[in-house]
Parts: sequence; C-alpha cells; structure tokens
Amino acid sequence: MRTQVAIIGAGPSGLLLGQLLHKHGIDNVIVERHTGEHVLSRIRAGVIEQVTMDLLDEAGVGARMHQDGLIHEGVQICVDGVRHRISFKDLTGKAVMVYGQTEITKDLMDGRAAVGAPTIYAAYDVALHDIFGTHPRVTYRADGKNHEIECDFIAGCDGFHGISRKSVPPRAITAHERVYPIGWLGLLSETPPVSEELIYVRHELGFALCSMRSHTRSRYYIQCSLAEDIESWPDERFWEELKPRLDEEARERLVTGPSIEKSIAPLRSFVAEPMRFGRLFLAGDAAHIVPPTGAKGLNLAASDVQYLWRALLEHYKDKSDAGIDHYSDRALARVWKAERFSWWMTMTLHKISENPFDVKIQLAELDYLFRSKAAATVFAENYVGLPY
Ligand code: FAD
Ligand code: DHB
Repeated sequence: MRTQVAIIGAGPSGLLLGQLLHKHGIDNVIVERHTGEHVLSRIRAGVIEQVTMDLLDEAGVGARMHQDGLIHEGVQICVDGVRHRISFKDLTGKAVMVYGQTEITKDLMDGRAAVGAPTIYAAYDVALHDIFGTHPRVTYRADGKNHEIECDFIAGCDGFHGISRKSVPPRAITAHERVYPIGWLGLLSETPPVSEELIYVRHELGFALCSMRSHTRSRYYIQCSLAEDIESWPDERFWEELKPRLDEEARERLVTGPSIEKSIAPLRSFVAEPMRFGRLFLAGDAAHIVPPTGAKGLNLAASDVQYLWRALLEHYKDKSDAGIDHYSDRALARVWKAERFSWWMTMTLHKISENPFDVKIQLAELDYLFRSKAAATVFAENYVGLPY
C-alpha cells in the first residue's frame, strides 16, 4: 500500500489530523492497535478550548458538538469548604465547552467512515522504518498477515505508550519528566451534576473535581494514592470519600447513583523534544503529557494537529517546507505554557506534601488568585487557552 501520510493511532490527534488532511486532498491511512469499540470505551477529557472547537468545525465534524456541548463561561474553585468563581467571560471574553472526548472520537470516526478514508484497526506489531531516509515505511500485522505502507511522512499520534516516540534513536531525543505520587479516581454516573459549572476542590482530605457530560450525566474525580486498586472502590466508597471534600451546598445537591465507568489515571508531566525527526512528526500524548488538572491534554493534541496539518498542506500545495521545519518549535512553545499551567494547578490543588510550609504556600497562591484581578486574569487566560 502507498499513501502520502501514514498516521499511527486513532485517538483524537490521529483522527483529527486524518480528517483535515483528507478534506484538503492529502491521502492518509490510520493504523490503530486496538479495535474501534475499545478506543470508544475510554472515558477521558471533558473540557475543550476554542482551538479544538474550531478544528472540529474545520474538519467538518462539529455539528453534534454545537448541539450537545455545554458552553461554560466560568469555573468554581472550592477551598476548604468555601467556593469562589472565576469568570472567563468577564476576564477574557472567552469560554470553554464541556463535550466528552468519547463523543469527539465518535464524531471523527463517523466523519472518516463517511468519506471512506482507510483506518486499519487491530493492527499488531506496528513498526516504523527509515524515518531519517527518503523512503519511510510502516509495517504491521493484521488478519494474520504482514502488511507494509510506503509513505512520504509518518505522524506519530499513538499516545504516551505508543511505538512512534520509542522508534527514535535515544541520542536524538530529550525527555523531561515529573511524576506525581498521586492519581485520579474517576466515576461517571447517570445523575444530574451538583452545579452548573465545574468545581475544582482543594481540601485537606485531598483534591476533588465535580464535572459533567450533560445535564443528566456527571463525572467526578477524587485524588487517590497510586497503590489503589479499582476493585477496592465500590461506588458507595467513592461517594463517601467525595462528600466531605465538598462545600455544604454541593453536598446537599449531590445526587449519587451507580457508576457507568470507573478508572484510575496516574498524574504525570512529560515533554519529549524535539517533536520532529526526519520524516516522523510526533503529535499529542505521544510527545507530551500533562496532569489532567488543567484540562489541557486533548487541547494540546488539537493545537499540535493545527500546526501539523497546515505544515503538510504547505508542503504539498505550496511546495514550501517552512511549516514542517518550524513545526517542532511552534508546537513546543505552546506545550511548555500548558505544562506550566497544569503543573501549577496540580501543585496548588492537591494534597501532595505534608510539609506545613508547602500547605501555607498553596493557600497563599489561592488567596491571591481570588483577591487579585491580575492573577485571576492569568488563570482564566490559561484555562480558556493561550493564543497560538
Ligand atoms: P490517545 O488518546 O492516547 O490516542 C492514541 C491512540 O494510539 C490510541 O487509540 C492507542 O490505542 C493507539 N496506539 C498506541 N500504541 C499504538 C501502536 N503501537 N500502534 C498503533 N496504535 C497505537 N485533556 C483535555 O484537554 N481536557 C480534559 O478535560 C482532560 N481530562 C482528562 C481526564 C483524564 C482522567 C485523563 C486520563 C486524560 C484527560 N485529558 C484531558 C487528556 C486527554 O485525554 C489526552 O491528552 C488525549 O487523549 C490525547 O489524545 P491522543 O490522540 O494524542 O492520544
Ligand atoms: C474533566 C477532566 C479534567 O481533567 C478537567 O480538568 C476537567 C474536566 C472531565 O472529565 O470532565
């Protein structure tokens, strides 16, 4: 098989890139390790920035998002039982949208199926060849047979545990990492949310987040230790841990119910530099991870794709490689700002250190955020998404 761009991974970055390239006449094939059903079963991001909304529109798959997504003009932060609101609208004139990653993935999969662009699911032993040469190739096994795709470029959109980043010689790549000693235990339930807006909770018992997917479906997270086993978290135990971390009003409004999904995610900050190696480009979680606190992971994946698809369009249509040559620097400049914000939110809202000095600093940071319009504006600008 021959194509112009071979894309590894059918998560949001791979599917979005594929759709944008296809729309502009650039051939691509997606190779995904799992089945489509498995990809759709992963419950992850919930908050999307304007950059992501714009790209979904550009890719022609934004209709359901506009119909079902919930616009949020502010966010609430609860510190030891007292809630504060930060208005994105007043401070930046912008807003974010609550629309689940699962729905985005479904819209992108449907869009891809509608235009007949090829995706190979359940592809095993995916390997990348000749990324620094002139004839890059991707090989894999599917249906018990070996396959090969010849291409001009490879887009590594295969997430943190993917093969693309690992295919780069170690001397060509630098990894920056910070691992936090905590995780998030998430629960999805068919119950109305406690509040119209998301509530990020800082509490001496540990962090919590009240989020939603719709007016009838809630998503909650609580900070947990990394040693936790999901089996030892029956729903009742989750609700009992969540309740005391909330303010009185939220506690009274909380409607509990059986979980539809429950999972644990570790918290990590990670950046691989550069993001281009010859004819291989990394995008999304394959290149960088943020702890989920700032709601940035999927949005960063979208902004990488924004730079990358335009660079590839310039290459094919304008015969210019300027975009390709600048891809890594442009993407990383944005990545590091999101890394900073996600790290800051994580360190400020979680119970990480027992040292009373660190706790006092957390409280001082939050007090400043609520009292200073300048600090609140910086927060709001970062949350709704920095310009690119
Ligand atoms: P992925 O979604 O990881 O997709 C990669 C794909 O590649 C997968 O389908 C995988 O099966 C496939 N793959 C892997 N290895 C191979 C291989 N060897 N061969 C072929 N295919 C392979 N982000 C936000 O912006 N907002 C939020 O509110 C938010 N909340 C989050 C909450 C949680 C609990 C978690 C865990 C994450 C959250 N994120 C959030 C982050 C967001 O989910 C990720 O950043 C996003 O999924 C990245 O998309 P991706 O396509 O780059 O990678
Ligand atoms: C959700 C996840 C996040 O990481 C976040 O910061 C806000 C909301 C969510 O899943 O709804």
